[in-house]
Amino acid sequence: MKKKRIIILISGRGSNMQAIARNAREGLLRDCCEISLIFSNNPDAPGLRIAEAIGYPTAWILSQEKSRTCFERQMLELFNRYSPDYLVLAGFTRILSPSLVAQYPRRIVNIHPAEPAAFRGLHAYRWAWRQKLEKTVITVHYVDEGVDTGPVIEQREVDLCGADSLEEVERRGLAVEHRMYSEVLRRLFCQDRQANSGKETV
Ligand code: GRF
Repeated sequence: MKKKRIIILISGRGSNMQAIARNAREGLLRDCCEISLIFSNNPDAPGLRIAEAIGYPTAWILSQEKSRTCFERQMLELFNRYSPDYLVLAGFTRILSPSLVAQYPRRIVNIHPAEPAAFRGLHAYRWAWRQKLEKTVITVHYVDEGVDTGPVIEQREVDLCGADSLEEVERRGLAVEHRMYSEVLRRLFCQDRQANSGKETV
């Protein structure tokens, strides 16, 4: 069965990337997913060093001080060499243009640690902490040209009751993110496989 080729896009720490990489090597993604590249718009992203250390191909293209058109043209040129089935955003902080999104219809996914209707953009855990929320909702969604506005694929609640610091809020949220992202990806990749095998038999 053909594995899905994915490119993981990161801008910083890369803990979700690491969880996916672990699952692609020896966990629940090992039979359905192959990581072609770990990409960053930030050459100093700590996640890039981690990806190199665990032996994945990495690349970066600086997005700062560059027009979005120019950055995305370079990025697409690079991505086309890998023919990815999916782009998996994991803490990637650039907004993608409608034309880039159109290149990968329903093939770009993202994880956002809040209910998008309540909070979009960066620092969602800080927001949850400051709002003293009793729960947050981790959301995996398809990416469109907005910020965390694409169609929701799956959501999971995280209980924040009694969390007494921002670090604790993040710790609880990330523990769910790291499990959930791979589980949702697995379902997506398997669905695709079933759809494709259906077509073959028609
Ligand atoms: C995560 O909280 C993710 O949901 C959000 O950005 C953060 C990235 O963390 N989109 P990491 O780089 O995966 O550790």
